[in-house]
This record gives sequence, structure tokens and C-alpha cells, in this order.
Amino acid sequence: MTISWHVEQYERVESTQDLLKQKIEEGAQEGLVVVAEEQTKGHGRHGREWVSPAGNVYMSVLLRPVCSVQKVGQLSLLSGLSIFQAVEDLDPDIELKWPNDVLLRGKKCAGLILETEMQDDCIEWLALGIGINVESAPGIGECFGKGSIEVASLVERVLERLGFYYDVWQSGGFQNIAENWLWHAHPVGSKMEIKLGNSREQGYFHGLDDNGNLYLQNDNNEIRTITAGDVYLV
Ligand code: BTN
Repeated sequence: MTISWHVEQYERVESTQDLLKQKIEEGAQEGLVVVAEEQTKGHGRHGREWVSPAGNVYMSVLLRPVCSVQKVGQLSLLSGLSIFQAVEDLDPDIELKWPNDVLLRGKKCAGLILETEMQDDCIEWLALGIGINVESAPGIGECFGKGSIEVASLVERVLERLGFYYDVWQSGGFQNIAENWLWHAHPVGSKMEIKLGNSREQGYFHGLDDNGNLYLQNDNNEIRTITAGDVYLV
């Protein structure tokens, strides 16, 4: 069933992600979306700061998928693909980088943080925090000039794509999502370095497993499955 979104719009918050999690504690329902024009304490993966002046997209989305925690990787790719499709028409040089970064001419212009709560092996809730640079560099507004891309319509477009792919995913269509994702990402064979905690591993992209995890092939042709990490294309 297609999800219905309930969007709450704010001028300035510390972090849409933190606000959404507060609302989850208060019992918020699937489909709640918190959007802000500006954030004063925006944060990204691994506690990194996400500088958040006005003019960009800052949104957090609540999903309550009925599935095991192993499927988080699938939802992560699904979300990245949705953001990609929301902006792909704005520049000819936009691509995806595992798991869900969007690159504009090789530089990250959108990022996603995915936080979950589990009950036994099942996902209780999933908070998707999405930041898309429009005015900040590198931003997808660059091609068209400042003020030419409406943040509000971009939010709508992300939600439309996210709703569409969530529906596809709920009907068992992850293969279709993965194929689409692969089509727009670094090709198989791309050289990459992956930061895994304090260590780094080099290798070549060798595709995705059924849960959206990354296969990394080393120089000895051994393949390792990566479930989380920061990818650097080299
Ligand atoms: C990343 O590290 O790539 C993820 C960045 C996620 C930033 C977004 S902006 C909206 C939401 N609120 C936050 O504080 N973070 C996410």
C-alpha cells in the first residue's frame, strides 16, 4: 500500500533527525516527515557535523517496515536511489556511491543517515535523515544559479520517489531496486578504499549481495562482504 506522508515544516531546529526521534518516542506514526529550513546542530554519520544553513534540504522521515534487521541495507540503497532520482535531471553528472551518497561531478552533494531501533531481530522504526545541498557547495543549484531550484519541490520529489520505491520494496521488488541502483553507481571493477572503523581496506567494487551489502574484491581475487563503512573512490 502506498505510504501517506504527513509533513511538518519548521523554520529552524537543532536537527530534524533529533526532533523526529523525539516524536517517535511520543508514538509518531509511519510517514511522519520533519522538514526544516535551517539546522543549528545538524549531524551526519559517525557523529560528524552537517553544516546546515538555509537554502538546502534538511528532512527526516519515519518508516516502520515490518522486516528483520538484515534488510536495513536494502532500505539504505532504496533511500539513496530515491534521492538520486529526485535530483538526477538537474545535472548530467550525478551518480550514486555505496551505500547512499549522491555525488555531483564526483563530490558528495547529498547524504543520508539511517538510524533504527530493533526489537529482537525486527525493525521497530527507522529514521531516515536526508540532507541535499542546493545552495551550499557542491550543490545541485550550481547549474541553474542561486534561488532557481525550489527546496520545497525537491522535498516533494524525494517523498514521491521514496513512496514509490518503498511500495516496490514492500511488494518484494528489491532486485529491481538493486539493478536500478547499480545502473547509476560506480561500475563493477571501480577501485575503492573503504574505511572500516579504524582500518582501511582497498579493493574493487564487485557488486551487491541480496541485502544490499557491498562485495569488495582484493588483488588476490578474494571477495569480502562489507555491511557498513565509508567508501572512497580512488
Ligand atoms: C552523512 O553523513 O552523509 C549523512 C548526512 C545527513 C544529514 C541530514 S540533514 C537532515 C537530517 N538531520 C540531521 O541532523 N542529519 C540529517
